[in-house]
Amino acid sequence: MEQNHSAEGLSIGIIMDGNGRWAKQRGLPRTAGHKKGADVFDDITRYANEQGVRAITYYAFSTENWSRPADELEVIMDLFGQSLKRLYKYRKENNRVVFLGERTALLPAHQKMMDEIESETQSRTGMILNIAINYGGQQEITKAARELAQLAAEGKLNPADINEDMLEGHLYTKGQPMPDFILRTSGEMRISNFLLWQCAYSELLFTDLYWPDFRRKHFDEAVQEFHSRNRRFGGIGE
Ligand code: IPE
Ligand code: IPE
Ligand code: MG
Repeated sequence: MEQNHSAEGLSIGIIMDGNGRWAKQRGLPRTAGHKKGADVFDDITRYANEQGVRAITYYAFSTENWSRPADELEVIMDLFGQSLKRLYKYRKENNRVVFLGERTALLPAHQKMMDEIESETQSRTGMILNIAINYGGQQEITKAARELAQLAAEGKLNPADINEDMLEGHLYTKGQPMPDFILRTSGEMRISNFLLWQCAYSELLFTDLYWPDFRRKHFDEAVQEFHSRNRRFGGIGE
């Protein structure tokens, strides 16, 4: 039987890790890795779009990443700002851009661009491009719980009626497909607070490549590996 190795229609999560080590390997400052990583982000996004991917979610900055040195944080946020400017070009594309995370901690100028990009693209029907910035999966679930508790306190919701769909409706990814697979680069085999609710049945893929070394062919390889997995969702499989 012919196997379908296409990325069409898939929902994909990517933990872009290893920028610092990539730079260190070359005797460069860590920030050089972040710069190169931003280029790879652009290229893989373009490619995923061409491949007909349904949704792609990038982990760009975690709630824990604030513990890094100030000069590194400054460069990361500056690169994020440059990325936002490039995202305006998505005006011409059919992509919907969504930012996951607590944005009030970000620069006001960035928040403004994020709001504009999201509202301009919200009714687009093409690939959903999710960017997780100042994002933590635990914080996201806590936020959802807080919002549901508020509704209950206002008498608009009976706590006994709370179900999974309702909680999901208060996540940043509401209404979106759950990731079919989550790929992490750099050889680390952990989730690091990424999409904790959404990863319930995602296939987990790991590669030793550092993110700045990740190319389109590696994306294809990940998609193929995903298709070789036997997803059972608690059942007995094929
Ligand atoms: C991922 O690369 C980018 C961010 C977390 C912002 P790292 O900066 O974590 O690179 P390593 O893991 O230290 O090599
Ligand atoms: C995860 O990478 C966060 C992002 C890629 C944005 P980290 O480098 O922060 O994760 P840990 O610290 O190795 O778990
Ligand atoms: Mg890292």
